[in-house]
Amino acid sequence: MIIRTPAGLVGLDTAGAGVPLVLLHGFPHDRTLWAPQLAAAIPDVRTVAPDLPGFGESAPIAAASVDAWADWLAGLLDAVELDRVILGGLSMGGYLCFAFWRRHPDRVRALVLADTKAGADDAEGKAKRVAMQQVAASEGVGSIAEKMITGMVGKTTRETRPDVVATLAAMMRRQGVRAVHDALDVLKERPDSTPTLATITVPTLILVGEEDALTPVAESRAMAAAIPGSRLEVIPQAGHASNLEDAATFTRLLSEFVEATIRPSGS
Ligand code: MLT
Repeated sequence: MIIRTPAGLVGLDTAGAGVPLVLLHGFPHDRTLWAPQLAAAIPDVRTVAPDLPGFGESAPIAAASVDAWADWLAGLLDAVELDRVILGGLSMGGYLCFAFWRRHPDRVRALVLADTKAGADDAEGKAKRVAMQQVAASEGVGSIAEKMITGMVGKTTRETRPDVVATLAAMMRRQGVRAVHDALDVLKERPDSTPTLATITVPTLILVGEEDALTPVAESRAMAAAIPGSRLEVIPQAGHASNLEDAATFTRLLSEFVEATIRPSGS
């Protein structure tokens, strides 16, 4: 559905009823990334998956920074009357989780950090983002999708799951140039979240595909070592889009974590 918020139109899907779980997609995806988790109907959970600014059916916003996007998300939660949520994000969605935690910690009940990392772009990484913006403007988003699709999934998925590769490639291809351009600014200028890790005081689940080449397992191990009490799960034979590549395992781990968060043992 599409809802009207003070920041403009937002595309979002919701499923189930109960404790709110908000899932943020990566780059350059849209909310359909979370189709398997929405379809799974996690017991006692209301899953909410928005399109981030400019992607899918959401309007772009004026400021392209991770902080502006975090404030946009707070406004979206206000609009759908969600006070405190379990917040999850994949890759770019994870970067946004860190910014949201810094700016709106009282609205976070727990965190799920999937196939993401804490560090910022180095000079070479920033230059690649600028080059990608130029390619998007001159050749279109299809070129970006083509260049990214190989790294977006793991080796096993590339070799055995053409359906998953096709779904993801189509999702990436249909995003607009403006969305891609703005998101690349967000990615390029995001701060280093490494110092944030030790400040996280809510239950945190870290998920990563064993074959993730974009945000490798070592990044997740480093986050797990730095976030007090966090739990790390490595999903075998999955890559960067682990929630699609092995949707059943990802969803099971997510459900178990949510269950443990909302009903800690002994309560
Ligand atoms: C993503 O999947 O969101 C991107 O790979 C993140 C990035 O390029 O840093």
